[in-house]
Amino acid sequence: MNKLSRRDFLKRTGAFTGGVYPSMLAMGMLPAAPAHPFKLEGNANGKEVVILGAGLAGMAAAYELTKLGYKCTILEARERVGGRCWSVRKGSINEEKELGAHTAGFDEGQYFNAGPSRIPHHHALTLHYCKELNVPIQVYNNVNENTYYYSEGKGPLSNKKVRVREVHNDMRGWMAELLAKGMDGGKIDAGMSKEDTLKVVEYLRAEGGLDVDKLYKVSARRGYIESPGPGDREGKLGDPLTLLAMLQSGLLDPDFYNVAEYTYELQGTLFQAVGGMDKIATAFQQKVGGMIRLNAEVTSIRNLEQGVKVVYKDKTGEKSLQADFCICTIPLPVLSNIDHNFSSDVSRAIDSVVYMNTGKIGLQFKRRFWEEDEGIYGGITHTNNQLTQIFYPSYDYLSGKGVLIGYYNFNDKAVATGNLSYQQREQFALDKGSQIHPQYRQEFETSFSVSWHKTKYNMGGWALYSAEERQSLYKPLLQPDKQVYFAGEHMTYLNAWMAGAFESARSVVAALHSRTSGSRFAYPVLGS
Ligand code: ALA
Repeated sequence: MNKLSRRDFLKRTGAFTGGVYPSMLAMGMLPAAPAHPFKLEGNANGKEVVILGAGLAGMAAAYELTKLGYKCTILEARERVGGRCWSVRKGSINEEKELGAHTAGFDEGQYFNAGPSRIPHHHALTLHYCKELNVPIQVYNNVNENTYYYSEGKGPLSNKKVRVREVHNDMRGWMAELLAKGMDGGKIDAGMSKEDTLKVVEYLRAEGGLDVDKLYKVSARRGYIESPGPGDREGKLGDPLTLLAMLQSGLLDPDFYNVAEYTYELQGTLFQAVGGMDKIATAFQQKVGGMIRLNAEVTSIRNLEQGVKVVYKDKTGEKSLQADFCICTIPLPVLSNIDHNFSSDVSRAIDSVVYMNTGKIGLQFKRRFWEEDEGIYGGITHTNNQLTQIFYPSYDYLSGKGVLIGYYNFNDKAVATGNLSYQQREQFALDKGSQIHPQYRQEFETSFSVSWHKTKYNMGGWALYSAEERQSLYKPLLQPDKQVYFAGEHMTYLNAWMAGAFESARSVVAALHSRTSGSRFAYPVLGS
């Protein structure tokens, strides 16, 4: 290999057309890109750390600590790793309060991401770990103008599915027209020169698709009722939805706000792990699996004069272990029911932080009718009923079967669906969903639902803090309680994102290593 010049290698392997980067990296022909460096110096000198939870935060902490020479043990209550980073496949099991355990009956190869399903492009550390651990990623299609708004209620458009592009573009048109009309010696253009006013009107005409008279008539942006084609088929446009019809039908209500494009985290480009988001969890498991004790449910965490003692029970009975430090990633509503001797501030925070109520259902269908019949490839349909959203898979397009997410809801709506039995949730998703997609009845095969706030070892989707609680509850948890550090998405301002798990893991690793090594490692490093 040494005799082969870099150029020869590239020529032989066709590297100029792409695809050989990983193998070149492996052969040492390219330096690894320092995507998101985390270089702490010094050595752990054999210090032992017990990590509670083999979710992303726990495993990432173990991965980084091991690089520094710490001896880590991870206790994980479940039979699997990953925590909320979980793709439901054939044979996946979940256990909910009251309902007990249930098992997914999807076909081999079918899955849905019950937890995280999308990675914003600016979550650099998440992408860094995908790269470092060789987890292939692909684009996640979050925004799709060809999906629907479905408003249940009163009004001419309610109980009808309306393509998102029609609502978006008609709204944009009417709003631009209203503004443009107001730019005529009215309040809006007060103090503007004639030239300024013309500029704004020109902008509004472009923004709203207005005609020369500043009126919104109709625009091809909202799609065709007969698409353009060969010969004399120039395409036919339908009539725009009137502002009044949209208003009366509830399409101006918050359920239908233009959330995806206007939310920082949901602006493209978004990514997902190829083959399921749990590939990220299993990639970490490959690195730190030897340190993980599965089925180990923690029952007590106690700071000692020096070090910490953790009691847990596994299939063979009660056990305990001692370590110099503990990193606790257990979600707070679960931790709240575990014995500990933390300070009163920390204890109060653990008992008080509120978590999101949220749930999803995966529905497996015999065929991908949303693609075949309706031209929907990924993206989200929004409704104002308890379904809230239907997510179409952004993978395996045009294949045979498919699993879509039949609802992904929050707050009271998630509580209501969470209170149903597994069977009733399926029925509910099918009843409501078939109003939008009548094909549901014919094509449905099997479902699997997860209500995160009822799920054993989670008891919530993610932490929610008010500004006041950031001071009163979050702050006390940011400091270690003697030898115990807290990590997880709840220990960041990146709640509900894998990025929160990773950032908090690095943050506690830096804090812990600063303490043991006597050097100060700040994380995040300013400017990084
Ligand atoms: N991060 C969560 C999501 O993507 C909230 O839906």
